[in-house]
Amino acid sequence: MTGPEQHQAAPGDAPGFDQEKVAGSPWWRDAVFYQIYVRSFADADGDGLGDLPGIVSRLPYLRELGTDAVWLTPFYPSPQHDAGYDVADFCAVDPRFGTLADFDTLVDAAHGLGLRVVVDIVPNHTSWAHAWFRAALEAAPGSAERARYIFREGRGPGGDEPPNNWQSVFGGPAWTRATGADGTPGEWYLHLFDQSQPDLNWRNPEVGDMFESVLRFWLDRGVDGFRIDVAHSLFKEESLRDQVRTHEVVAGQTLDEDGGMVTPHEDDEPMWDQPEVHDVYRRWHRVLAEYPGDRMSVAEAWTKTPESMARFVRPDELSQSFNFAWLAAPWSATAFARVIESTVAALEPVGASATWVLENHDVIRVVTRYGGGEVGLARARAAALAMLALPGSAYLYQGQELGLAQVDVPPAARQDPMWFRTGEVGRDGCRVPVPWSGVEPPFGFGPGEGQPWLPQPEDWAALTVEAESADSDSTLSFFRRALELRRKVALASGDEVLVHPVVDGVLRFDRAELRVVVNCSQASVDLPPGEILLASGPLTDDQLPPDTSVWVR
Ligand code: GLC
Repeated sequence: MTGPEQHQAAPGDAPGFDQEKVAGSPWWRDAVFYQIYVRSFADADGDGLGDLPGIVSRLPYLRELGTDAVWLTPFYPSPQHDAGYDVADFCAVDPRFGTLADFDTLVDAAHGLGLRVVVDIVPNHTSWAHAWFRAALEAAPGSAERARYIFREGRGPGGDEPPNNWQSVFGGPAWTRATGADGTPGEWYLHLFDQSQPDLNWRNPEVGDMFESVLRFWLDRGVDGFRIDVAHSLFKEESLRDQVRTHEVVAGQTLDEDGGMVTPHEDDEPMWDQPEVHDVYRRWHRVLAEYPGDRMSVAEAWTKTPESMARFVRPDELSQSFNFAWLAAPWSATAFARVIESTVAALEPVGASATWVLENHDVIRVVTRYGGGEVGLARARAAALAMLALPGSAYLYQGQELGLAQVDVPPAARQDPMWFRTGEVGRDGCRVPVPWSGVEPPFGFGPGEGQPWLPQPEDWAALTVEAESADSDSTLSFFRRALELRRKVALASGDEVLVHPVVDGVLRFDRAELRVVVNCSQASVDLPPGEILLASGPLTDDQLPPDTSVWVR
């Protein structure tokens, strides 16, 4: 195993960095993170599935784009029932994605380019292929092996009914009945997600100890941080009582009437956001603090309010939490203004910095959410430019910089467990492999021929990295300029943001000398006086057209 000392960039090895030498505010507070969905980023061996060597070959692209860090989705051994979020071994690499040596190469290469590396940690559940769960199935009810998970007797005659009424996020009951050693139906186990993802019992100290060793394993290999999967889960109300449901349960994320993305919250949620979870993150904070160089953590916590999000980022807990309120907002100046103000207000008391995110591998691509086509793309660029001006850090999802829209993946090709459990379309449409070059699938995704693991649209030739790099008006060229200006102007503008009252569907906010206008209305509006630094689309006669935003100084 390699230690962090072996991952330091050599002196003069610009723009690499040294994890030991950190001055001033931690690097992550205003970093631009780029989410790499490992299966779909770059395929080095031509099997149609992305891999770690593929990522290494594309790191210079991310440096040139102007990002500061990459977050890698799970690449651990897994039966891949939930695209790797069903982890069978937390301290290894699935051979489909490479080897531990490939991982070390990736960390070294990233650090050499000045890019930080964040990995995903999945503490709520394991795969049913994890050694712990296999042992639990073999063992008797009441055994130490079963006590690592949440096994219970069923209700009703013969225990034929699930132990409570909880639903899986992916649809259907959150319980599956195990078979006893003699082949007869036995206890049920809890899975808030797919049945292949049994929930761990965080009231058992063995579980916390195991995850501390997982953190240390990756920290010792030089990772700069962790993205924590469903960070608001882990603990369930100890009684496992029925949930009182106030509206119909909808699987996963869905659209509200304004077209915004929401995770439906019940009034009563005995399975989410329990107070005990914060002790876990205090412990993780202490572990990360033992390592040099501002190692960080970011929570994926679909909490109900900005206030509940803020609890995860108290000074002795996690570094950041994804700001899903921004992602969930519809294309509306009023909604954006409200989110900016409530985010700042909620984080200020705990001294945490904000994050801004519009896309990830679980939600419909922003171009499509904002109406699709030219309008959707114009709005997606405008919202991204607004977000890149805001204090805090920004998260981009692969392909967002190309302006990719949601793909209508044909039913036969779909892989999301949500699709299999409910017949709902699911999340595959935002997970289609990145188009790099060429005029037909796999568009340079890998050396193979034909379609990768999820089929790419045949008409993506104009959306490849190669094609967009050659076009100064492309979405990619726009993102490159925006990230460069962000470093030069926005980051030098302090952390105060002043949101002006929304008038006629136009959002205006200032960050020191930087003035940002986002036109969410149907009519052109006057540009503010000053130097125009960057616009998200063409300007007309000193006017800011609808669906466009601008930075002025
Ligand atoms: C998170 C992941 C999602 C996964 C789920 C279960 O929400 O982002 O992709 O399906 O957790 O691990």
